[in-house]
Amino acid sequence: MKNSAADKQLLYLQVYEHILSRIQRGEWQAHDKLPSIRVLAAELKLHRLTVFRAYQLLKENGKAYVKEKSGYYVNSPTTENEREILNSHPRTDNRYKNDISEIQRIPAIYQFSQALIDPNLLPNLFLSDYVKKVFDIYPKIMGTYSTVQGDGELREVLSGYMMQRLKVQLSADELLITSGAQQAIDLLARLYIRPLDTILVERPTYSAALDIFRAQGARFLSVDITPEGYDLNQVEQIMKDHRPRFFYMNPTFHNPTGYTVPASQRKHLVELAERYQCLLIEDDAFHDMYFDEMPTQSLFTYDTDGWVVYLSSFSKYVAPGLRVCAIVGRNIVIEPLITLKSLVDNGSPLVNQKLFLHYFGSERMQQHLHKLRTALQIRRDIMEQELLHTGWKWTTPSGGLNLWVELPQSISVDTLWKLCIQEQVSFVPGRMFDPSGDMNSSIRLCYSFVNEEQIGEGIRRLVKIAAHIRG
Ligand SMILES: Cc1ncc(COP(=O)(O)O)c(C=O)c1O
Repeated sequence: MKNSAADKQLLYLQVYEHILSRIQRGEWQAHDKLPSIRVLAAELKLHRLTVFRAYQLLKENGKAYVKEKSGYYVNSPTTENEREILNSHPRTDNRYKNDISEIQRIPAIYQFSQALIDPNLLPNLFLSDYVKKVFDIYPKIMGTYSTVQGDGELREVLSGYMMQRLKVQLSADELLITSGAQQAIDLLARLYIRPLDTILVERPTYSAALDIFRAQGARFLSVDITPEGYDLNQVEQIMKDHRPRFFYMNPTFHNPTGYTVPASQRKHLVELAERYQCLLIEDDAFHDMYFDEMPTQSLFTYDTDGWVVYLSSFSKYVAPGLRVCAIVGRNIVIEPLITLKSLVDNGSPLVNQKLFLHYFGSERMQQHLHKLRTALQIRRDIMEQELLHTGWKWTTPSGGLNLWVELPQSISVDTLWKLCIQEQVSFVPGRMFDPSGDMNSSIRLCYSFVNEEQIGEGIRRLVKIAAHIRG
């Protein structure tokens, strides 16, 4: 397993941040006694030395002081700025960040950083017909809340659909509708992660999920995802030794790599989850974005004991603007999530759910999906064609929206990125998807957002800049 030495280094800094944020939230006030090293170490399930180092750092930085034979005490804020922060903001820690969205905010014509589908490939005109239809069927729709769990009619239809896809029995009660998979991941993180809890993620993985988990104070353990799947011995060892709260995975047309965990590993993974009581969060955002063959059976299919939660986002290919996702899980998972969802937004907008419902079941939707797959496959092929002579490495994805490309060591990805942005070309540096911030030679190129000509021109610019850097 990677990052354990680095982790130890970082751990006391995390404890330091943790204590500071509790002080800032007012849990401990100026001149309050902090918990003893023994008590805090027991609470956080950490070695006393780690807590000791954090306390020493608090002292060095003037955040705490020591009373002989008594312990550590909170110092009063020293600067005007600190006093102002404490008096005015309810929360001032910097746990919240979203690296990828910072990058995506930078405008670029050749936009390879957004893992989104080109709006021109989506059925915007057809959808507008359904807007009228939905308002005719439900004239009072704008005056009505959805139930927190999601519209009953939609959950009925989706549970039928999911039973076919997942080949399991399901009831509408075993679904929760969320505003996108992003919200689903956030709700699960809030439910399962306590500060300093350990979770297992793939390396690389969906970067926004990492930011969400970080915001809850999670510590990461990772397992590499390759075109052959995971090293299952390593997964087992991690589950056995560290008992992670869950394993967040995107095993089908994975973002960012496009890899798919083979069928032969899936049943075994569920057995491991059951044996070590580690929940699997199966994020299946790209399930329908396949090119040649339908994807292999989901992990959820093999689950008999409630150890897999399945996330099915429809925002990518139906309509990103509707933000509809279904969490599928057994009651033990869904019930607390409903309570959390009620705290967050009291239910997703009803009009979005009804629009989705009527469009989703239509003949047009199937035709659209078929055409969309072909269009995406063509774009993937064009991008690969443009990269062919570079000698760079990647594995051709059989679904999804991205190419995960490994560049020669001699090219600095950061320099490449800065120069590319000046030339209107945008991509995401690989380190953003790595829980330990490495993978410095990889980049993610999304082929679904810009059209064929733009792919050609954008990749030619990228390759030219890379050649220039190499000299
Ligand atoms: C793996 C993965 N999960 C979840 C999401 C978020 O999906 P949504 O748009 O439904 O919030 C994305 C978006 O790129 C993704 O790649």
